Amino acid sequence: DALRPHVLVLFGATGDLAARKLFPGLYHLAAAGRLPQEYAIIGSGRHSPGTDEEFRDQIRSALEEFVDDLDGGVADDLLGRLSFQTSDADDGADLAKAVRAAEEQMADDVGEVRRLVYMSIPPAAMKPMIAMLGREEITERGRLVVEKPFGLDLDSSRELDAALKEVADEEQVFRIDHFLGKEAVQNLLAVRFANGLFEPAWNHETVSSVQIDVPEELGLEGRASFYEGTGALRDMISTHLSQLLGFVALEDPGEFDADALRDAKSAVFAAMRPLDPSRAVFGQFEGYRDEEGVDPDSQVETMVAIEAFVDNDRWQGVPFYLRTGKAMASGQRVITLRFKTPDTEIFAGRTACNEIQFDLSDNPKMRVALQTKNPGPDMTLGRSFMTLDMGQQEHDEEPLEAYERLLLDVLRGDRTLFTRADEVDRIWQVAQPLLDDRPQVQPYAQGSWGPQAALDLPEGGWSLH
Ligand code: BG6
Repeated sequence: DALRPHVLVLFGATGDLAARKLFPGLYHLAAAGRLPQEYAIIGSGRHSPGTDEEFRDQIRSALEEFVDDLDGGVADDLLGRLSFQTSDADDGADLAKAVRAAEEQMADDVGEVRRLVYMSIPPAAMKPMIAMLGREEITERGRLVVEKPFGLDLDSSRELDAALKEVADEEQVFRIDHFLGKEAVQNLLAVRFANGLFEPAWNHETVSSVQIDVPEELGLEGRASFYEGTGALRDMISTHLSQLLGFVALEDPGEFDADALRDAKSAVFAAMRPLDPSRAVFGQFEGYRDEEGVDPDSQVETMVAIEAFVDNDRWQGVPFYLRTGKAMASGQRVITLRFKTPDTEIFAGRTACNEIQFDLSDNPKMRVALQTKNPGPDMTLGRSFMTLDMGQQEHDEEPLEAYERLLLDVLRGDRTLFTRADEVDRIWQVAQPLLDDRPQVQPYAQGSWGPQAALDLPEGGWSLH
């Protein structure tokens, strides 16, 4: 379907996310002919990057850095539609004017033009900015994309939500969690519900534990000011990793649409037990406090490992271990289901657990660990692996990068892969005990797997080590 003309307003247009993901994503969509025929992009923020020409040069450099095989024609067309308008929470009048002027240029009937407002700004700046959008009526005919984290705790997330409800209907709100845009994450649903092999085994009778593990090799990368106010729990656990847990644990949603999928995830979060601080480990990599912009006494966690439970019929007693951190030994995103050993006589005492591992990297894979017979005259057992490279499947369509896919979904008005207010609220309720009673941060060496206490958390250890 042809998309309606759009005015995109991008807060945080000169920031890191815009340079690395949003503009490259828009570029790829443009190159694939997936953007509307008519659109304009207005970058906005408190500080002007200079003239429109200087702003375009800045974005051109970002495209050159972050897009492979940049097509000059496509880039020029995109950059030609770009301008900048300063605004802040107290004063959005000029921005509102700029939006209207862009609309009038685009269509005789401005009512035909849709607005997409992307808020890539820190959580503390979000609420007053949303109020401004309402005051200036920029939310009219608009869709609002709100970057994570959604607030910093239960109270502030509720305040943020109330502010959103003042200015927009829930149908207009797109809470973005880019992990849900990853092909491999959606593939979890396909693998599980479209294959008779897996779904019958997806429960506490056969599964002994689940690990959701996202160690990162990257350190702070100049994001100290964001990170000092956020930390790993809010940056990753209460957002991306919780959403992954929702995807792994949910019941058959019945349909792949916004209501059904989000109802199913929401039911998982509702059944989650609030986290137990004595079963959580916070780490901080050595040298973090020496980074520029970091408090020399900072207690901010750069690594978290937790144990979680979903107290419903399917998952009773099955621990879910979630781990993530900066400056760790390896950069991966892996979900592992570990299975109970079979109750067997023939191989008694010689069995080992099976594992199904979903590697959610940009080259997604699925790996199954099995016990098989070692070659030779004796009946001895060894561990074998079956690996499926999901990127090797034959298909006509190019895969979309996570942000690309989600930007396209906003343009199409599809909220299936965006999180709903009730999910966010419940996740904060579950995480709140760790905010109220913070585990003390324990140091870990850069390039390691975190403090010993984190290594010891899961019974049987982490699959990645
Ligand atoms: C972001 C976090 O949301 O996700 C970053 O703010 C993190 O700290 C990043 O590095 C990881 O995303 P990806 O897609 O690169 O694994």
